[in-house]
Amino acid sequence: MAFGSKRANTLKLALHEVSLALPTEPAITAIVGESGSGKTTMTRLMLGLQAPTQGSVLYDGQDLSQLDRSAFARYRREVQAVFQDPYSVYNPFYKVDRSLLLPLQRFGLTKTRDEAYARIHQCLEAVGLRPGDTLGRYPHQLSGGQRQRIMIARALSLRPRVIVADEPVSMVDASLRATILESLYRLKTEQQVSLLYVTHDLTTAYQIADRIVVMFNGEIVEEGEPERVIHAPRHAYTRSLVSAVPPPDPTIDWGLDVEELPA
Ligand SMILES: Nc1ncnc2c1ncn2[C@@H]1O[C@H](COP(=O)(O)OP(=O)(O)OP(=O)(O)O)[C@@H](O)[C@H]1O
Ligand SMILES: [Mg+2]
Repeated sequence: MAFGSKRANTLKLALHEVSLALPTEPAITAIVGESGSGKTTMTRLMLGLQAPTQGSVLYDGQDLSQLDRSAFARYRREVQAVFQDPYSVYNPFYKVDRSLLLPLQRFGLTKTRDEAYARIHQCLEAVGLRPGDTLGRYPHQLSGGQRQRIMIARALSLRPRVIVADEPVSMVDASLRATILESLYRLKTEQQVSLLYVTHDLTTAYQIADRIVVMFNGEIVEEGEPERVIHAPRHAYTRSLVSAVPPPDPTIDWGLDVEELPA
């Protein structure tokens, strides 16, 4: 994936030849890498927000650019995004209810308002929010963590197969980070939703992912099971990431059945 132009001498190859396939069964894939390594570019390609300058993005074996109307609509519903800054996606003049209702209406997933609200209640609860505390409010009346979880509930309400979350917790404080990651983790186990989790943070990747993909300089330099990647990193960049991980914070209760990182 290149940006800029050769003629103006601004050509930037943000993503070299990469090949990444998501498993068909529910799983969490973490993409880890430093700033500028191409993580967001990768997610934008997968979300169809950007067309690759070379190569292709396939969904269910079909090239995104070749999907017909109905297949594209299905892809749009089944692959949902959760972004870093939960504030930027809300319109401050409307109650959050609207952000939750509109997608359901757009995709025609619920027929009546009651049905839509029932679905919204379910999804808010699935991410650990009490509907009574969240609905009827304006975005600024909610905490950052609540806003982020509403975004996850919104994505979930469309019954997606995949949620692509680009740095979903980097703007919230450490205690909320754990809660939000736990909500995302539970989507896999309880709702059979796959997650592409993009982060700088190897520790959280290790804690929730089934597979870690390490990016460096627009390339995938390593991928594998978290245990293997952490304990026996093959690439020099991964080794430097592992050695930079701070020791685990025992005050954070992840509520997840996972081991701590080795010291
Ligand atoms: N629209 C664009 N035009 C020009 N260059 C771009 C554009 N988008 C990204 N880039 C460049 O592509 C490279 C990869 O960027 P990308 O946003 O994918 O990195 P990232 O891994 O998501 O980084 P971060 O962790 O900071 O979010 C960077 O060098 C960036 O400057
Ligand atoms: Mg990014």
